[in-house]
Amino acid sequence: MKNKFWNETVKKNFNNASTNYLVYSNIQRHFAKNIVSLLKELNIQKGEWIDLGSGTGLLADEIEKEFSTKKITRIDFSRNMLLQNKESSKKILWDLNNGLPPSIKNCSLMTSNFCIHWLDNPEKIIRDWFRKLSSGGYLVISYPTINSFPEWKQTCLKTGIEYSGLTFPLSKDIMKSFKSDEIFFTKKYLYVENFPDVYKLFRSMVNVGAQSTKCKRKKVYELKEIQKFWPKGETNSVNLTWEITTLILKKS
Ligand SMILES: C[S@@+](CC[C@H](N)C(=O)[O-])C[C@H]1O[C@@H](n2cnc3c(N)ncnc32)[C@H](O)[C@@H]1O
Repeated sequence: MKNKFWNETVKKNFNNASTNYLVYSNIQRHFAKNIVSLLKELNIQKGEWIDLGSGTGLLADEIEKEFSTKKITRIDFSRNMLLQNKESSKKILWDLNNGLPPSIKNCSLMTSNFCIHWLDNPEKIIRDWFRKLSSGGYLVISYPTINSFPEWKQTCLKTGIEYSGLTFPLSKDIMKSFKSDEIFFTKKYLYVENFPDVYKLFRSMVNVGAQSTKCKRKKVYELKEIQKFWPKGETNSVNLTWEITTLILKKS
């Protein structure tokens, strides 16, 4: 799929999910709160604070709750997602595949929660964000890694059905551009979601707009096979395991 068409598909799915997003985004909320608890330990200098791929403002709102004097600029390419943000907040409609908006200057904190895996070239884009941070500034990102969704991948191996989930970034690739003294903090976390069946599991992705795939739509019989062979827990339910990396880069 060509990048332009892919980008439009991703945007359309997030636009369509915008009104329900906050009800279903449990994992994103969990890691947004984790980011805020890490921010409390940092000595952030004066400057602009921005949230990249902010969606409805879930993370930006959590940050503003903790740092009540700060106003976070929210940047996203989904108009409907941005419309869900507080009316008074500063919002920029912008495709992050085109770098940062030109108006962004003197930034001492950049955050991004569950966004970089949607971008065309996350490694390059993160390098560019870091380059544009002011000195002493922090870039804080959380993203799912390539080790996510082992149950889904195992089921595909067993059934011979193509894995249609995203290929998430490899943490090593994201970090390789940075010197060890620029990597202030990094940690991997496991987060397990549980669903009554795979139909509800896939529905949960649609609910947050994260169902975009470069593969063909699954046929009904393939979904049945996936349901049959997905590893089951005691109650016949299915798990989806995410590996999430939170990374803090500090510019000297
Ligand atoms: C899973 S949501 C996460 C939203 C928010 N950060 C949170 O923690 O709830 C991913 C967001 O990234 C945005 N996004 C994806 N690709 C983008 C791009 N190329 N430029 C700007 N935003 C993008 C989507 O519109 C969506 O709002």
